[in-house]
Amino acid sequence: MNISPDQVNELIKNRRSTFPKQYAVDKKIDDSIIEQMLENASWAPTHKQTEPWQFTVFTGEGLKQFATYQAAMYKEKEAASFKEDKYQKMMSNPLMASHIIAIGMKRSDKVPEMEEIASVSCAVQNMYLTAEAYGVGCYWTTGGVTYYDDAKAFFGLTGNDKLLGFLYVGEIAVPSAAGKRSPISEKVTWIR
Ligand SMILES: Cc1cc2nc3c(=O)[nH]c(=O)nc-3n(C[C@H](O)[C@H](O)[C@H](O)COP(=O)(O)O)c2cc1C
Repeated sequence: MNISPDQVNELIKNRRSTFPKQYAVDKKIDDSIIEQMLENASWAPTHKQTEPWQFTVFTGEGLKQFATYQAAMYKEKEAASFKEDKYQKMMSNPLMASHIIAIGMKRSDKVPEMEEIASVSCAVQNMYLTAEAYGVGCYWTTGGVTYYDDAKAFFGLTGNDKLLGFLYVGEIAVPSAAGKRSPISEKVTWIR
């Protein structure tokens, strides 16, 4: 590999979430970049080779279908606490993205559930880093219909599968500020 450790360090540290209001609306990311993000997702670590990720990609007219679906489900599920502005956001937010990747975990029962969620999370990080390398914006959201069990079928998920949220992808118009983290030393114990 001709990638230096410094380049890997830079990529990881510079990876930022970029949110829909920061995207250049109407600018489309080339599908080939999305394909590369998905290909790299599939190289995530996977215990017993279960490869528990399942993705559905929405773009073009698909984004409208996604928006209509999530807004309608919000209206149905939250009738008691319905808020018009939240409904409108559910309709409009997806249309700011170039692509939305629904993140699913297909349950195999070969390993504990936690391991399959962890493996899909690694796959998402691979997509985040790939987007960063291509200068493309993205962010993982667990908003929308993520926690509605009834929503799973729309994304090809059944039974004990889980919907883990959505990766919004768009061309960056307004870059994110530098990231912030507390010193790792506060969260590490060395035993020597
Ligand atoms: C599992 C998961 C779920 C997230 N869900 C949301 C979300 O619903 N809304 C949101 O604004 N950001 C969400 N984020 C993104 C975080 O806001 C973001 O990672 C955080 O602000 C740190 O910024 P960075 O990714 O640029 O380091 C989520 C991140 C993860 C890992």
